[in-house]
Amino acid sequence: MNSSPLAQDSYVQTQYATQDNLRIRVETHEKYSFPKMDFAAWVLDQLPWRGRERVLEVGCGSGIYARPTQARAGHYIGGDLSWGMVQSLPPDIPRVNLDAQWLPLAAASVDVILANHMLYHVPDQDAAAAQFTRVLRPGGYLLAATNAGANRPELNQLLYDAAAALAIPVPQEAMGDALLTFTLENGHALLARHFPQVARHEVETAFIFPTPEPVIAYIGTTRDRLLDIAPPGIGWEQLAAQLHQLLTDHIARHGEFRVHKKAGVFVCRR
Ligand SMILES: C[S@@+](CC[C@H](N)C(=O)[O-])C[C@H]1O[C@@H](n2cnc3c(N)ncnc32)[C@H](O)[C@@H]1O
Repeated sequence: MNSSPLAQDSYVQTQYATQDNLRIRVETHEKYSFPKMDFAAWVLDQLPWRGRERVLEVGCGSGIYARPTQARAGHYIGGDLSWGMVQSLPPDIPRVNLDAQWLPLAAASVDVILANHMLYHVPDQDAAAAQFTRVLRPGGYLLAATNAGANRPELNQLLYDAAAALAIPVPQEAMGDALLTFTLENGHALLARHFPQVARHEVETAFIFPTPEPVIAYIGTTRDRLLDIAPPGIGWEQLAAQLHQLLTDHIARHGEFRVHKKAGVFVCRR
């Protein structure tokens, strides 16, 4: 149940009401990525930590950055729009239910803000970026991780093929991250309007799936977007069966289902 008083877009609200969907995606990255990579540690290691920083995470989700940040900084607070996410953090982690567009913190009160894989959900990204610069002390840092627009092309093609076979009317260009409003390609323009220094760092890895099931579980976490526009009688059972068929054929031919991933982080200095 979501009992937050903060207003939320209905997709964001449903998708992040609890940690369940995000946890499946995080576990899929941990288990099937090649080469193995700790993305959260890689993001955090872009900063020269001194061990005393006050850190606010905006859109902390299930909290994968909490412990690694605590290991590098003095004080960490996890913040999220979803009351369910905030509630589910481990009990010893300080937390706040917040909206990136209006942060309930004093001006110049934190040294580092983390806003990872979340800005594309924010309706007014300039308002959020202005809040980040207000709350950061001069010289403080924002880390904002996101995906490339051309992320996971093989997964997007698979989903498009399955949708097409079931007459789900989705345009091919809408399948992936290309239409996200904050990507590695288009994110610089927003951040450069608010921060004098913006640097971008990228990393490319892959998923290698030996069987269809983990792919279907991963896709299942965002199924609503497709099923909302599916013709009558087409539900998750039909979509999952179609995906299973396509993946079984692909793996029989290639021995695996390989998906290229491209993500990165903007490092911004106030
Ligand atoms: C894809 S998850 C990323 C979670 C975490 N940062 C990570 O990288 O694992 C996006 C998170 O942003 C949160 N979120 C969406 N809109 C938000 C907003 N306006 N303010 C604060 N959090 C928001 C969602 O509730 C969700 O927990």
